[in-house]
Amino acid sequence: MENQFNLIKLTDNYQLKPFDCGDADLNDFLLNCSKDFSRGLLAVTYLIEDENNTIAFFSLANDKISVTELGSESKWAERFKDLLPIGKQFNSYPATKIVRLAVSLDYQFKGWGDAILDYLKIWFATDNRTGCKYITVDAYRASLKFYEKNKMIYLTSKDRKSDTRLMYFDLSKLS
Ligand SMILES: CC(C)(COP(=O)(O)OP(=O)(O)OC[C@H]1O[C@@H](n2cnc3c(N)ncnc32)[C@H](O)[C@@H]1OP(=O)(O)O)[C@@H](O)C(=O)NCCC(=O)NCCS
Repeated sequence: MENQFNLIKLTDNYQLKPFDCGDADLNDFLLNCSKDFSRGLLAVTYLIEDENNTIAFFSLANDKISVTELGSESKWAERFKDLLPIGKQFNSYPATKIVRLAVSLDYQFKGWGDAILDYLKIWFATDNRTGCKYITVDAYRASLKFYEKNKMIYLTSKDRKSDTRLMYFDLSKLS
């Protein structure tokens, strides 16, 4: 019989199943911090589970891309200027941030990460309740190739030597 998978929004009294993605900080976030983030209205966590395992989780929060903060890097400011709606210039653009994303070790490199990003893009582009133009992520260095493959673009070159890099995807580019 095919495995059943469920997408579950984490609530306070939900019993989390064990989870190991190979990264201690991400494991700790899910198992010990994600409910506090939900309670504090800081991030909402979603789980993908089968009957016995947490396959993956992602946590989301509101974000913005600030054009004024990018100001000194004219190449990037120019890129955003091209995308401005009908003659109106904004200082910042609304976004949803992937605060955390991780796939359990047993399920990595089997397409779950791709499927989650595809789902998020379609979810926010078609059920955009408050205005959200971009998906953003502060990506771990080890996962940059994964996000590049999913067409996410580096926001700035200032962080090119950092442990994490800011990336974005423009939802209005979805065909
Ligand atoms: C990074 C992560 C979320 C990717 O999810 P996944 O389900 O393993 O990825 P997928 O199987 O969907 O891979 C999609 C593509 O990205 C590639 N990819 C995935 N992880 C990669 C990595 N770490 N380095 C290079 N390429 C990677 C895959 O090879 C695949 O390429 P292909 O389409 O050419 O075959 C997952 O591996 C993970 O949780 N890693 C540990 C925690 C982590 O780094 N989280 C990111 C925090 S920002």
